[in-house]
Parts: sequence; structure tokens; C-alpha cells
Amino acid sequence: MQTIFSGIQPSGTLTLGNYLGAIRQFVELQEEYQCYFCIVDEHAITVPQDRLELRKNIRSLAALYLASGLDPNKATLFIQSEVPAHTQLGWMLQSLSYVGELERMTQYKDKSEGKEAVSSALFTYPALMAADILLYQANLVPVGDDQKQHLELTRDLAQRFNNRFNDIFTVPDIRIPEVGARIMSLQEPTKKMSKSDKNEKGFISMLDEPKKIIKKIKSAVTDSEGIVKYDKENKPGISNLLTIYSSCTGESIEELEKKYEGKGYGDFKQGVADAVVNLLQPIQERYNELIDSPELDTILDEGAENASKVANKTVAKAKKAMGLGRVR
Ligand code: TYM
Repeated sequence: MQTIFSGIQPSGTLTLGNYLGAIRQFVELQEEYQCYFCIVDEHAITVPQDRLELRKNIRSLAALYLASGLDPNKATLFIQSEVPAHTQLGWMLQSLSYVGELERMTQYKDKSEGKEAVSSALFTYPALMAADILLYQANLVPVGDDQKQHLELTRDLAQRFNNRFNDIFTVPDIRIPEVGARIMSLQEPTKKMSKSDKNEKGFISMLDEPKKIIKKIKSAVTDSEGIVKYDKENKPGISNLLTIYSSCTGESIEELEKKYEGKGYGDFKQGVADAVVNLLQPIQERYNELIDSPELDTILDEGAENASKVANKTVAKAKKAMGLGRVR
């Protein structure tokens, strides 16, 4: 059976973008693959975090994974910092990463732009991400479009390690969904929807109440043409809403364009809002049942134990290949 690894940062409540671009694929894939899904809290601290908020977000993310349909009997769900092998291999891979290639990472450029104090961990972040994936010998990594460059670097690092030391790492492939790989901000539809957006109206949180969802979609930026048509260049707002609608209901974009022919943006936005509410409401109900349950802790304990077994073996192989420690 092939293996899958993916991770999400607990850096705020997940957005509809995280769900459509990532989690939804995870739920499908757990049926056919050996899956590891991680709450990457060590990635989250590459930018300042409030400790109590971070704790809350970690637990909330675990509950959201499960509420979205992740089955702990089929997939391993765990917290990155509870499996020390991640930072161990992360360090080894940092020693193989070049400053030049890390400098080219667009996520680093975006997140550091205009900031006075940028942590060195934000810069070396992709080496830790590569470690996450390579520890489990993942064949496939399901992510949204924005992680492409990090995945390419992961592949390069795996190959570099294999060539320089010993052939121990599987070189992973990326898996990006056909629709929903890049959900854009509702307020600035040329920018991706992000959980760390300062403008709350730009994103839909997976835990937003229906009323709030409707309000945010109603105030989404569109254009003055009044025609519901997919045209990413000239109509980024409407195109984004069409993508969201289509991803939520499974109706194709062409079907939706037909459905709203001759109708105004008001009707269309109501349709988008209904689609999103219908998708998120059952997830929110399950979330509320899970968030304070002891079951959640048991699942995370077992997940960390399972993941550690596999990850520790890989670290031992990597140390041996690099000549670290003593011969045992
Ligand atoms: P993060 O936490 O920013 O996002 C988690 C997942 O959600 C996807 N995503 C989106 N998809 C569609 N539209 C959007 N607007 C959108 N925003 C986010 C992301 O592509 C991602 O799949 N570096 C990663 C976390 C990570 C990881 C890993 C991922 C750490 N280690 C190993 C895969 C494998 C990140 O910051 O994702």
C-alpha cells in the first residue's frame, strides 16, 4: 500500500480554502492509502504565536480533521512536536539545504517582506517540511497549489541525500486537487484565502456561524458586469465564487453559469452562501461534540505513538547514512 503524508499549521482556525484544497482530499485518500496527517505546530512557531492561542488552535485543528471525516482507524493523526524525529531529521536536512534555494521560496519572501525581525526558522522551514514527509517514506503529498515549491525542494533534498549518502528516502509526488487548489480571498480575489489574513472578511473560517458566512459572501468583491461567468483574468471575484460553489456542491462551473444565466449577483451569492453553509454545518456539529471529548486525546496519543515508531526508524537510518553518533 502506498503512503501519504500531509500537514496543516495550527496558526488560526482553518479556512474554507484549507478544507477544499487539503482536508477534503485527505478524507477521500484515507480509503486507499496508508495515511499520516499532522498538526505541524513546530512550523507554526516560525512566526510569533500566543502560547494559549496556539494550544487552543492545535486542539481545534485535531477536532476539525476528525469532524471533516478523518477516521483514526484508517489514518494516523498526530501532533508534530510530540514526535521528536521531525526536528531531528529537519536538522539533518538543513545541513543539505543551500541558502540560495531557501531564499527562492516565495512563501518565505511573502512572509518576511517588510518585517524587521524574521526568525531563522521561517527561513529553514522547508527543510523541516521535507523531514515531515520523508520520515514516513511518503509516495504522495496532497496539498493546495501554494505548497508546490516546497514539494519540489523536498524532492530535491531527498534525491540529494540519496545520492550523497545512501538511497534511503522515497522521492514523493505532489497531488493537487483539480478544483479548489487555490481558493482566493473574498476581499482581494487575486490573493489566496489565508487563515492569517488581518481582514476577517477575506476568509471563511470553517467554524463561522451560518449568518457570518452569508454576510461575508454577500460582501465579497465582484465586478460591475452583472454576468455570472468564469473569467479568472477579468472577473477574479466571480470566478473565485464559482470555484467555491462548484467545489462545495460538485456541480460543474458550466452548469452553474447556465443556472445563473440572466440572474443577478444577489441570487448567485445567495446560492454560494447556501452551498458553503450546507457543507460546513454538519462538520461544525461534529466539531462541537469532539472538541472537549477525552476521545480526542486518546486518538492523538495513539497517533503520536504510531508515527514515532515509523519516524524513529527512518531517523536511525539517516543518522547511520550520515555517520552521526556511534556504530551500534
Ligand atoms: P497551511 O497550514 O498553510 O495550509 C494547509 C493546507 O491547506 C492548503 N491551502 C489552500 N488550498 C486551497 N486554497 C487556499 N486558499 C489554501 N490555503 C491553504 C495548503 O496548500 C495546505 O495543503 N507548509 C504547509 C504545512 C506543512 C506540510 C508539511 C504540508 C508542513 N509540513 C508536509 C504537507 C506536507 C502549510 O503551511 O500549510
